[in-house]
Amino acid sequence: MAEQASINLGLEGVYFDESMICKVDGVEGKLYYRGYPIEALAEHSNFEEVSYLLLYGKLPTKPELESFSSLLSSNREIEPQVLEYIKTMAGKSHAMHVLRTAISMEASLDKQADEATPEANLLKSSRLIAKTGSIVAAIGRLSMGAKYVEPDKSLGHAENFLHMLQGEKPEPEKAKMLDLMMVLHAEHSSNASTFSTIVTGSTLSDLYSAAVSGIGTLKGPLHGGADERALKMLYDIGKPENTESYINGILSSKERVMGFGHRVYKTYDPRARIIKKYLTKIQSDSTEEVQNLASIALAAEKMMVERLGKSHNIWPNVDFFSGPVYRHIGIPIEIFTPLFAVSRMPGWCAHMLEYWGNNRLIRPLDYYKGPLDLKYVPIEQR
Ligand code: ACO
Repeated sequence: MAEQASINLGLEGVYFDESMICKVDGVEGKLYYRGYPIEALAEHSNFEEVSYLLLYGKLPTKPELESFSSLLSSNREIEPQVLEYIKTMAGKSHAMHVLRTAISMEASLDKQADEATPEANLLKSSRLIAKTGSIVAAIGRLSMGAKYVEPDKSLGHAENFLHMLQGEKPEPEKAKMLDLMMVLHAEHSSNASTFSTIVTGSTLSDLYSAAVSGIGTLKGPLHGGADERALKMLYDIGKPENTESYINGILSSKERVMGFGHRVYKTYDPRARIIKKYLTKIQSDSTEEVQNLASIALAAEKMMVERLGKSHNIWPNVDFFSGPVYRHIGIPIEIFTPLFAVSRMPGWCAHMLEYWGNNRLIRPLDYYKGPLDLKYVPIEQR
């Protein structure tokens, strides 16, 4: 009898390497970047500092942070050919397609694209982090039919993103909130997009190719695309009193409620907890649209937690409350998932750099269960 393989569908529960970057404790609902609890980083840190922490493995000193932040801001320019492409395609195709292609184009214009030293890869990481922000802001702005706005080196990463998207210096409260969202999305161990980034890099392909794999993987509605779908669901529900019948409809047809459930968290996602706290804080000061979305989201969360929380381990994930917060900041739904890529770029790069320190080609097995030794029949006789 043939040897029986043990199969872990979706690689569930499989460790493929060790890492020093991120701990996701799916039982206790805790998340740490390089050992620091996400709650502390959300309260005290910012996106630039968290990017440094992920890439370099330690919190920066003040001069280190200043020099890293100015490295990022000096790399914000979009290459002219890439900008031309964005101008041609923005609004005509899903923003994730445009982003993926734009990053590929940046690779072909970077003379260091195939230089594989750790120093070159760190520099390329900062370029990728900086340029992805500008590219996504440009896609968002040009999709609305507005004129392109140049990056502003004097602003922080989140502030500059909003400036390029909205064409004016953002309100400090909104820039701070976007910065917080970027911190919360910056890293999450070997999720699907990070894993695909590493798979690509493990062939000793280049960092841009690895990042493009991450972007392609993030797009799916079971992963980064869920934030967009979760907000569309809130709009579909329309008003809080419709929530119960709408959610019942989804559950009775055995479909998924977007923004709930997680492969690792079998409890409340700590990022969703933080975002919910901020949403509750801003709710009464926001637009009518956001107040309504927030009320629907809170009603849906209550219902889902009662119905599926403890009994089925299905709780809100990071994507559920993000939509109303992004709408409060003034971010269009079309760029929610690309914005996730902006935030996750430091995590992807950090993992790639770490994996290259002890690279091994990733090549798992599938268990072939089809027939063997079939007799080849010439085409005329089939
Ligand atoms: N709504 C309703 N039921 C759900 C949901 C949900 N969101 N998620 C899981 N379930 C149910 C499944 O139908 C299944 O039920 P069954 O056993 O009766 O068939 C059970 O829970 C287990 O589901 P799996 O798909 O096996 O769990 P998995 O670990 O693969 O799921 C996933 C994780 C893909 C995220 C899933 O929960 C889902 O589809 N959620 C909605 C999409 C989403 O929000 N994705 C974002 C995740 S976070 C991120 O990537 C940033």
